[in-house]
Order: sequence, then C-alpha cells, then structure tokens
Amino acid sequence: MGKIKKIGVLTSGGDAPGMNAAIRAVVRTAVFNNLEVVGIRRGYQGIIDSDFEILESGSVSDIIQRGGTILKTARCEEFRSAEGRNKAHDNLRAAGIDGVVVIGGDGSFTGARLFNEEFDIPFVGVPGTIDNDIYGTDYTIGYDTALNTVVEAVDKIRDTASAHNRMFFVEVMGAEAGFIALFSGIATGAEAIMIPEIRDETRDLKKLFDNEDRRKKTSSLVIVAEGDEEGGAFALAEKVKQEFKNIDIRVTVLGHLQRGGSPTAIDRVNASRLGNAAVEALLDDQKSVMVGLQNNEIVLIPFRKAVKLHKDVNRNLLALAEILSV
Ligand code: F6P
Repeated sequence: MGKIKKIGVLTSGGDAPGMNAAIRAVVRTAVFNNLEVVGIRRGYQGIIDSDFEILESGSVSDIIQRGGTILKTARCEEFRSAEGRNKAHDNLRAAGIDGVVVIGGDGSFTGARLFNEEFDIPFVGVPGTIDNDIYGTDYTIGYDTALNTVVEAVDKIRDTASAHNRMFFVEVMGAEAGFIALFSGIATGAEAIMIPEIRDETRDLKKLFDNEDRRKKTSSLVIVAEGDEEGGAFALAEKVKQEFKNIDIRVTVLGHLQRGGSPTAIDRVNASRLGNAAVEALLDDQKSVMVGLQNNEIVLIPFRKAVKLHKDVNRNLLALAEILSV
C-alpha cells in the first residue's frame, strides 16, 4: 500500500476560470485511485481554521463549466508566518491528510514551498491564474478564458471607436506581467500595446501619432496592462491628451470581468490534465513541485524554480504587433 491515502485540495490567490475543472480532475483522479479527498475552503486560511469537507465523485458534478471556485479562495497572511504553518500542519495531521494539491499562482506556491521545507506532508501545485506569469508552464489555468473575454470586449470597443473616429485606451489585468495585454493586443489588432516588461513606451506611443498612415486610421486602440510603468490607462490617456489636444480619447478599464465566466475548452482540458497530473505526482512521492505544460507535455517543476525564475513575454510578438499595426 502507498503512503498516500487521503489528500486535500484547495484554491488560493485570485480565482481563475478553470479552477473548478481542476478541482474536479483532482477529486475524480483520487477516487479512481481509491484515495479519500478533503476539500479545503478559502485557501490556506481553510487549513488554519480546519475548514474541511469530504468530497466524493458526485461533489464535483456539474462544475467543469463554471467560473470561480466551489472551494472559495483567499490570500492568507497567517500562512506566511511560522506559527500559521505550524497550526496548519497540526490540523492536516489531525484530519489524516497525507498530501495537498494547491491550485493557485506563485504567491500560493511560495507558501507551499516554505511548508515543505518545514514539514513532510507533500504539497503539489497546479498553476491557476489569469496572468499566465508562472515560470515553467506555457499556460496557466484561466489565461485562455480571460484572453477571450478581453478580445470579445475590445472588439465591441473597436466598433464604437470607429464610429466616432476615436482613440481608446483599454486597461487589462496583469499587475506584473503583460501576457494578457500582448496576446489580446495582437488578437484585436491594437495600434499599441503597453506592458510592464517594456520601459520607455511613451516614446513609441508618440511615434504612433507622428506617423501619417496611422493618423489616417478611423480608430486606434491602445491596450495597457494595469502594471505598466506609466500608471495605467487613465494616467497614460491624460498624458497623451495634454500633448495631442485634437485627438478624441476615451478610456475603458475592464477590471474583474476578466476573472469571471465559463472556462474555454482549452482551459477545461488543461485544468483536467494538470489536476490529474498533480494527484499522480503525489502518488509518485513527489513534493514541493508544480505540474506544468511545456510543448503540450506534462512536466514537473520544483516550487523553488517556479517561484524564483521569471517568465518573460515573447518579445518577437511585440515586434509583430508593431509591424501588423502599420
Ligand atoms: O493575479 C491575478 C489578478 O487578477 C491580477 O491580474 C490582478 O492584478 C490581481 O489579481 C487583482 O487582485 P484582486 O482581485 O485581489 O484585486
């Protein structure tokens, strides 16, 4: 008999569409392997409060298509302290939980890594965040859905921008990373894309206004990642307005609508594969690792790397966006 008999599963950090599909995959894979499963509510806070519920196969029926997370989520301060993690360890032991699957972003994996340096209950991570900013995986759960939500919204903005010959600054999520901005910018034919990874973009933006061909366009869209150094879409639009008084400018901040909604097929499939792989990893005695997708294959990445190393955007795509928006 293997030593893993009962596992816990939790979602942590910002919710992302597809987290429910991942929970379902974890539960069903566990049931398939005759393991018991405990759902932990509100992320790490749920371990500290022993907020547990037994999950069976039927508990995860009819959730694969739902956004949000049935287990709820939180960003837990207490788990950052040694006392908090001690308490969490005691509660996991008391509940007979032999391993935990954490579905979340790099902040969540930092906590998991610390816990695994201190205690021998293995944690395995599943990358879930709309930002797609986790090193070691090509895609995170929720990114594809958020991207499609943004594209649908920006297409609508393009209609009204063209009707009025206006320029729109559209702010998308990504406090530290420009993946959503870059891909949605290309997919919507944006005239410019502003992301935190690139410095001194205002200069490039000015080129946009100085270019005669571009000035003839009936509409212009600038996609701005919320973490951009210029301070977001409103700040940027204000600067441009002051310099180019004749341009009719509007700003839209898409905000949390990007986090909700039914996951795309890609997110459901990725979540199903990653959730399944996380349970398999626990059964293979892995600990302190994240399961990821690289070139469409499942890989295991130590938390140490997933947390410390920076995943960069593909800079060729920025050049492509510029060429295609001429
Ligand atoms: O990490 C996901 C994310 O949606 C970021 O893009 C955004 O900056 C942040 O979460 C917002 O967090 P909150 O919902 O706590 O305001």
